[in-house]
Amino acid sequence: MTSATKQVKRIGLLTSGGDAPGMNAAIRSVVLAAHHYHIDVIGFVHGYNGLVLEEYISQSKTLTLNDVNSIIHQGGTILKSARCPMMLERSGLEQAANTLTEQAIDALIVIGGDGSFTGLLALQQLWQGQVIGVPGTIDNDLANTDFTIGFSTAVNTGIEAIDKIRDTADAFERVFIVELMGRHSGHITFNVGIACAAEQVLSFENFSQENEASKLKQLAEEIQQAQQNRHGSYIIVMAENLWSGGATKLVEQLQTFAGIECTACVLGHIQRGGSPVAKDRILATKMGVCAVQAVIAGETGIMIAEQQGAMSHVLLTSAISEGKHVSSQLVDAQQNILALSAQTHC
Ligand code: F6P
Repeated sequence: MTSATKQVKRIGLLTSGGDAPGMNAAIRSVVLAAHHYHIDVIGFVHGYNGLVLEEYISQSKTLTLNDVNSIIHQGGTILKSARCPMMLERSGLEQAANTLTEQAIDALIVIGGDGSFTGLLALQQLWQGQVIGVPGTIDNDLANTDFTIGFSTAVNTGIEAIDKIRDTADAFERVFIVELMGRHSGHITFNVGIACAAEQVLSFENFSQENEASKLKQLAEEIQQAQQNRHGSYIIVMAENLWSGGATKLVEQLQTFAGIECTACVLGHIQRGGSPVAKDRILATKMGVCAVQAVIAGETGIMIAEQQGAMSHVLLTSAISEGKHVSSQLVDAQQNILALSAQTHC
C-alpha cells in the first residue's frame, strides 16, 4: 500500500463518473490542504477525458485558492465530469499515463465511484505515480466506507420530493410509484423509503426480477387492502433498474391487472444536483485533507474511507469488489414491521 516516500510537488486531481453533491467541497479541501503542504494541484477537466483527449488536456491548470473560493455550497463539479470509455482500452490508458508523466504529476487523486476506481487501478499498472481514490457517488455503493460523498444530499433531495408528492397524494388519496436512482444498489431507495414512511419499498434487497408476476399480484392485493381500510395515500418507492420497464411499466401493469389507478414519478437526475447538505460538505472536506496527507505519506492504490466516523485508508480493490449491502436491520424493519402498518391501519 505504501510506496517509497518522496518529495511530492504536483498532485493531479479530477472528478469522474456521475457527479455528486460535495465533489466541489472535496476539490476545495484537496487544494487547501495541498497549499498548506506547498504542493501544486493540477486540475484535469471532464473526468479521465482530461488525461486522454488533446482538447481537454490543454485545459488542465494549476488550481489556486481563488479557484476554490465560494464553491463549497455548489452542486456539480467545477472540474466537470464524464464517463470515459477510452479508459477501458490499453491505448487510452497509455495516453493517460503519458499525460501524467509529461506534466510531472507525482500522484493522482480521483473523486468518483466504482467505474472511476476501476480505471484508476488499470492506470496504476502503466504509470509510476501514486493513485488515491476519494469516494464520490450518490449511490453509496463502495465497500468499507460508512458513506460516500453525495449520498446524504441525494437522500435528502429524495425525501423533500416525496414529502411534496405525499401532500398531493393525500389530497386525492392517490397511489404513486416513485423511482429513485442508485444504479444497482438500494441505499438511496431504502433510506428515502423509510424516511418518507413509504407504504412499500421495492429494491434489490427485498425483490428479484424473476418474481415480477407474483409480486404484481401481491402489490395489487396489498394496495386494495389498504384502500378498503381507507388508509389514504399510498406511496411505493422503487429502485431504478429493478422492475422491467421501471415505474411507468408497473403503473400500467397495476391498471391492467387490477384496475388500480396510480401515477409514476421518476425522480432521476434531480437527485444528483443541489447544494450539498452539511454531512456531505464535512465528509468531503475531511476526505480531501486525508487524501493529500495519504499522498505525502507515500500511500498508493487506496481509497479514503470513513469508518465509524474516523478517516481511514482501504484498498481500492476491496472498495470496488466487496460490495456494500444495505443494512439488514433496515431491510428487516421495513419488510416485517413498517410495511405491514399500511395493510392493517384503519
Ligand atoms: O452513479 C450515479 C448515477 O446517478 C446512478 O445512480 C445512475 O444509475 C447513473 O449514475 C446515471 O448515469 P447517467 O447520468 O450517465 O445516465
